[in-house]
Amino acid sequence: MGLTLKNPIIAASSGLTKTLDNVIACEKSGAGAVVLKSLFEEVLAEDDWETGQSASQHPEVFDYLRSELRFQYGIDAYCDLIRKAKKAVEIPIIASINGTSFKWLLKFARRVEKAGADALELNVYLPRIRETQKAGEVEAAYLEILETVKSEITIPVSMKIGMYFSSLPEFARQLEYRGLDALVMFNRFTEPEIDIENLDIHTTFSLSSKEDINRLLRWTAIVSAKTNLEIAATGGIHSYEGVVKLLLAGASTVQLASLLYSKGLGEIETILKRISAWMQRHNFETIDQFKGILNFSEAENAALYLRAQFMEKIRAVE
Ligand SMILES: Cc1cc2nc3c(=O)[nH]c(=O)nc-3n(C[C@H](O)[C@H](O)[C@H](O)COP(=O)(O)O)c2cc1C
Repeated sequence: MGLTLKNPIIAASSGLTKTLDNVIACEKSGAGAVVLKSLFEEVLAEDDWETGQSASQHPEVFDYLRSELRFQYGIDAYCDLIRKAKKAVEIPIIASINGTSFKWLLKFARRVEKAGADALELNVYLPRIRETQKAGEVEAAYLEILETVKSEITIPVSMKIGMYFSSLPEFARQLEYRGLDALVMFNRFTEPEIDIENLDIHTTFSLSSKEDINRLLRWTAIVSAKTNLEIAATGGIHSYEGVVKLLLAGASTVQLASLLYSKGLGEIETILKRISAWMQRHNFETIDQFKGILNFSEAENAALYLRAQFMEKIRAVE
């Protein structure tokens, strides 16, 4: 993204990056950069929603959203946090917005740029539940959001996406062609849960587990081989080994949240020390010497390799 980080560990957007004190604590703990807790687009839209159609058509949903919004910060507080953070720390401050349309995004993008954010991470959330919506239409919406934001601001723009795309390598290339500065893989979604006693469906959200890393490794190795995008890998990285694996697969940085929630910010220093020791053991002086050396550069071979591995593992279970 054109940002210089002292190391590849980024404190991911979460409660750990929501306040000035937390941002300072992240820097003190050794983080190379911070992605601030997301501003939710609905906060920007709130005024309009009160008089808008969505409110009159879905009053219950609207009430629920409003009650949630009270816990989120507004755009003024967000820009204030950016300004203060920029004064207080030296590491890059990446603003983040979580949204579903770009009507509000533009207003926000301009304001965070003015407040001094080093970059903007777009956490785009486009739920795909309409049976008439085609995959291409969903992808086109992402691309349009990116192009519109890129045409409006000059700071680098990254996009945090989920893993459910029909052809992720091709989609990533489209993002690259439209000037995306970095791809953040993957967004962590809430998941549905069913209570079989109360016959109720509700939503769960839990910290990641270390098994989640395997999906991330696969897509990082593929997308890094098929595009020149910088990749920030996030989701299931719980150790220094995890960081090293992602760098070998081709990520430029990693973003951590769950590990820091469960073990504390002190983990960053532990991981950095262990990565240095690993690099010494393997005679690497810089990350560039090993970044991406295990990505899937040969398309046919990669597909064959994945297929062979699949067959081997399935056979082992029989
Ligand atoms: C409590 C919590 C709050 C989060 N809030 C946000 C958020 O506001 N915006 C966002 O883009 N990601 C958010 N995330 C996702 C993290 O930034 C991160 O990408 C994800 O948790 C995967 O990394 P991990 O496995 O290290 O947790 C949140 C994660 C957690 C655990």
